[in-house]
Amino acid sequence: MNLNLEKLRSDEGRYLLAIESSCDETAAAVIDRERHVLSNIVATQNELHERFGGVVPEIASRAHLERILPVIDEALRKANVTLAEIGAVAVTTHPGLVGSLLVGLTAAKTLALVLDVPLLAINHIEAHIYACRMAAGRDVFPAVGFVVSGGHSNLYDCRSPVEFELLGSTTDDAAGEAFDKVAQILGLEYPGGPQIEKIGSQGRPDAVNFPRPFLNEERLDFSFSGLKTAVLYAAKGTPGARIQPPPLTPQRVADLAASFQAAAVEVLVGKCEQALRKTGRSTLLVGGGVAANGVFRQSLAEMAHRRNVQLIIAEREHCTDNAAMGALGWELWERGMTSPLDLDVTPGLVRKR
Ligand code: KG4
Ligand code: ZN
Repeated sequence: MNLNLEKLRSDEGRYLLAIESSCDETAAAVIDRERHVLSNIVATQNELHERFGGVVPEIASRAHLERILPVIDEALRKANVTLAEIGAVAVTTHPGLVGSLLVGLTAAKTLALVLDVPLLAINHIEAHIYACRMAAGRDVFPAVGFVVSGGHSNLYDCRSPVEFELLGSTTDDAAGEAFDKVAQILGLEYPGGPQIEKIGSQGRPDAVNFPRPFLNEERLDFSFSGLKTAVLYAAKGTPGARIQPPPLTPQRVADLAASFQAAAVEVLVGKCEQALRKTGRSTLLVGGGVAANGVFRQSLAEMAHRRNVQLIIAEREHCTDNAAMGALGWELWERGMTSPLDLDVTPGLVRKR
């Protein structure tokens, strides 16, 4: 395809349009070459998935179809940028839900074709880490990168924005998934992470001493399903046991939420510390939905201070899914890593490069 570099070099091609639809948020953003975010529109689908307690893929892709064009329109309008001024289109192609990814990719390909501009394939995991580069406003690589979201708990050695080596990941549930499932056990609203944080602030983090899976092991992997089951038993009773658990009063729910959060955060921060030690890196980048959690952010800050490492956490609004972190597209473009128009989604692919 014609890369249209002339357009990118000219004033008209100053802007990147980024599109994200990997899960249940339909998002578009306009970002200039200096990585300034001119607009960042996110249409959430929480109300559609709430009663199911999790994302229903078919409902998500249908909702993306309805929202994608209005969201792109709104992003351009808010940025005060016309389509003619767009120099490249970046879109999440992996990992994610196949139907959801296809909606964003089809919109992006159509625009790239019609506007005759480069198409850039965004790795959603790398984008969550790139949100830290956006927060810092300068280059932050090399670093240890940690993506803690509803789908991933992945630790990386990041040599550059597009060269990641996986150091460890979850063997079962992702951290955000554990927050969501524990919230469901405790009868809290979906998505559970923010609810656990809110209700947990009224509870005692030491009320129940939940397990800290893998914390004292060398491996940089995570496991959250045992912790989730421990919360289930503490809330509803252990199968076959004669002793009944305390009644699930609002105070008990708050105590269980706070105690679960304390256990999860201790493991997440402990593994970051181990990864820093193992790699010898002096910068830690943390992104993904769970990185919006205040207790986690505070605990990371204390660890970073103690170890004398530079900590950069994505801004709260860039922790959960958004298209502004698709500014990573500029890094791809600068490295000549453009994609052909027959590009396909690769839903299960975590590492491409
Ligand atoms: O990054 P994200 O928007 O989507 C994925 O790519 O997975 O992450 C969503 C996850 C959900 O599991 C949600 O419960 C969790 O992030 N989350 C939080 C908080 N805000 C969102 N978890 C804990 N505390 C929060 N404040
Ligand atoms: Zn995400």
